[in-house]
Amino acid sequence: MRLIVGPARRARCQALSILKAMFFTLTPTQIASYQQDGFLVLPGFKPAPELAAVRARAEQIVAAFEPGEQVSIFSTHEERRSADAYFLGSGDQIRCFFEEEAFDAAGQLRQAKALSINKIGHALHDRDPVFDAFSHGPALASVAAGLGLAQPQLWQSMYIFKQPGIGGEVGWHQDATFFETTPHSVTTFWFALEDATMGNGCLWVAPGAHRGPLRQRFVRQGDVVRMDTLDATPWPSGAQAQPLEVAAGTLVVFHGLLPHYSAPNRSSQSRHAYTLHVTDGQATYAAHNWLQRDGRLPLRGFV
Ligand code: FE2
Repeated sequence: MRLIVGPARRARCQALSILKAMFFTLTPTQIASYQQDGFLVLPGFKPAPELAAVRARAEQIVAAFEPGEQVSIFSTHEERRSADAYFLGSGDQIRCFFEEEAFDAAGQLRQAKALSINKIGHALHDRDPVFDAFSHGPALASVAAGLGLAQPQLWQSMYIFKQPGIGGEVGWHQDATFFETTPHSVTTFWFALEDATMGNGCLWVAPGAHRGPLRQRFVRQGDVVRMDTLDATPWPSGAQAQPLEVAAGTLVVFHGLLPHYSAPNRSSQSRHAYTLHVTDGQATYAAHNWLQRDGRLPLRGFV
């Protein structure tokens, strides 16, 4: 029976994949919009069952996480990362990071562990089968090709919780600060796993500002990191910022030079999201980038 059903099911899956890739082939209008604004919103990119699968898997990873002595807090204040071997060693691992406001003055968690984790990073897409399936496939390859990524390379994945009440702010930044290539190529794939609203800390972007300079460079030298200022161009002001309120299942793709931020989440609703940072293998990846890979876990594309 399995011999009969197996090939049929495989054929059906292949047909669905081809249809999906065709459906998500970017139109000339979408490509022009991306080039103009530096971002593109693709509603309905991921179906509910796929969202449920990665949410359930993240829940399992957090449940299995025993912090012990290795309590690491994810902070946008970069200098705090300098001595954090747990962070610096996470580029090819699956590790959990706490919210900055997760602990009280006595060092105890303010709320349950499952509601205290800021993110899981940074190799879910290569180390975990559920996230691997979510992070690859012809539809994503098709979007990447439409955006001009000739040879996509998936460097980093993050599951971001933006927890209710304590979800931390992520200040204005450009993702090329952390993934520099020559020429610039890093592109962010941001999946809404839940509805993202202004209430629970959605993304804010500055349309068109990706045509400005790279302002900062995050440099790693051995076990020390620092943030260099490259350009004094101010971050966008309030009037230039646009909120991206999107429904669960939406994919937002944005240019590595696009300034973006997200506000703290003081609401009772979490705002789970999953991100991939992808460069073009035809560009030169900087040796000073904090995340490097060796032959033990080779870089892969979308297919
Ligand atoms: Fe970012």
